[in-house]
Amino acid sequence: MTTSITIPYIKSLGKDRNAINLDLLINLYNDPNLSLELKREIISSIGRQNDKVRVAEFIKKNFKNSLNTMDMVYQFYRTCLYNLESNTDFKEISLDIEDYFKNEIIYKMKYFYNFKKNKNKFIQTKSEIFEPTLLVGNCLETLEKVKEKSVKLIFTSPPYYNAREYSVYKSYQEYLDKMKEVLKKCHNVLEDGRFIIINVSPVITKRPGREFESIRYPIHFDFHKILSETGFEFVDEIIWLKPEYSVPNRNGGYAQTQKPLSYKPNCVTESIMVYRKKSSFLLDENIKAYKDFSPIFTESFDRTNCWLISPRSSKDHPAIFPKELCEKIIHYYSFPGDLVLDPFGGSGTFGDVAKEMNRIPLLCEMHPSYVKHILKKGYKSISS
Ligand SMILES: C[S@@+](CC[C@H](N)C(=O)[O-])C[C@H]1O[C@@H](n2cnc3c(N)ncnc32)[C@H](O)[C@@H]1O
Repeated sequence: MTTSITIPYIKSLGKDRNAINLDLLINLYNDPNLSLELKREIISSIGRQNDKVRVAEFIKKNFKNSLNTMDMVYQFYRTCLYNLESNTDFKEISLDIEDYFKNEIIYKMKYFYNFKKNKNKFIQTKSEIFEPTLLVGNCLETLEKVKEKSVKLIFTSPPYYNAREYSVYKSYQEYLDKMKEVLKKCHNVLEDGRFIIINVSPVITKRPGREFESIRYPIHFDFHKILSETGFEFVDEIIWLKPEYSVPNRNGGYAQTQKPLSYKPNCVTESIMVYRKKSSFLLDENIKAYKDFSPIFTESFDRTNCWLISPRSSKDHPAIFPKELCEKIIHYYSFPGDLVLDPFGGSGTFGDVAKEMNRIPLLCEMHPSYVKHILKKGYKSISS
């Protein structure tokens, strides 16, 4: 008998909600020879049955025996969530499971369930900003002026910790704290489920004398921590690969002595950290909002997380984005018409490309000469 039990058979028992099928499903569940996959399907089919008192009894009796089998636990929990309103036992068991596991998958399931329950109350917020806009001043203050959840994509390259003259922080910790504050503001203005993408790489600060070691800061590792703490989920790391001739040479010392420990490779990569604002729903929900969008199909898209792009230098700013990098980010992570934000605008490269690609750029900048530079490009300005 056991070998002839199949998933479609169990599903069919689940669809026909009568007492005989419920008995049959419970008997099947108790068969020690059934695979985990079949047992999961049985729990799901039992959850669909009309007699919720018996369903609750079944879960109460069995879920504790499956605490080491996460697939089963999730199925029991899911059954409870979808039956919460029919019987208080489901609530009690779901609380037990939440309390026992306290894990991120359980939390996600709960958020998703709540989202589905309140789906009709979910309204897509319309951006209040309808034209290219520059927020002049410290973005910690100016971002307060932007409507909550109105931004659809954030891409930025934050100030490097004390590596350039415009970033002066008392300590690395102070720098990270400030960046975390900015990320919180970004979180407020970004629509749920949309992307924040940060371009960073390790920096080295000037040493105070030849007798001191210089310190190299792995900014991207620390950004992972502050992004996660602020409510963003890791999605991808894209590696921006640069031609070797375009980066500073660090091989000199080793080339002369070739002594171990003195090795320093040339750094030809930067991190493009792709994160998504945590949400209780799947990405499909964000995409569905653009029903009328028709993609133009092409074979030539980036198939790996390694993008070879030459850096760009400019008299306008010491740390300017290559346009090609902005184009890729905007193309892969936003739709035409979207409001897209760079909280550390600099010379405004991201805004330039956003305009060319029919997005609405929103930039922040506090340095007077960069502000002047951006305003020449026809931005509406809002000051703090
Ligand atoms: C790494 S640069 C960005 C360069 C930009 N990606 C480009 O293509 O020109 C960082 C910029 O952030 C600005 N900045 C730093 N802290 C800021 C803050 N709290 N509010 C607004 N702008 C800030 C700096 O003046 C600097 O121009």
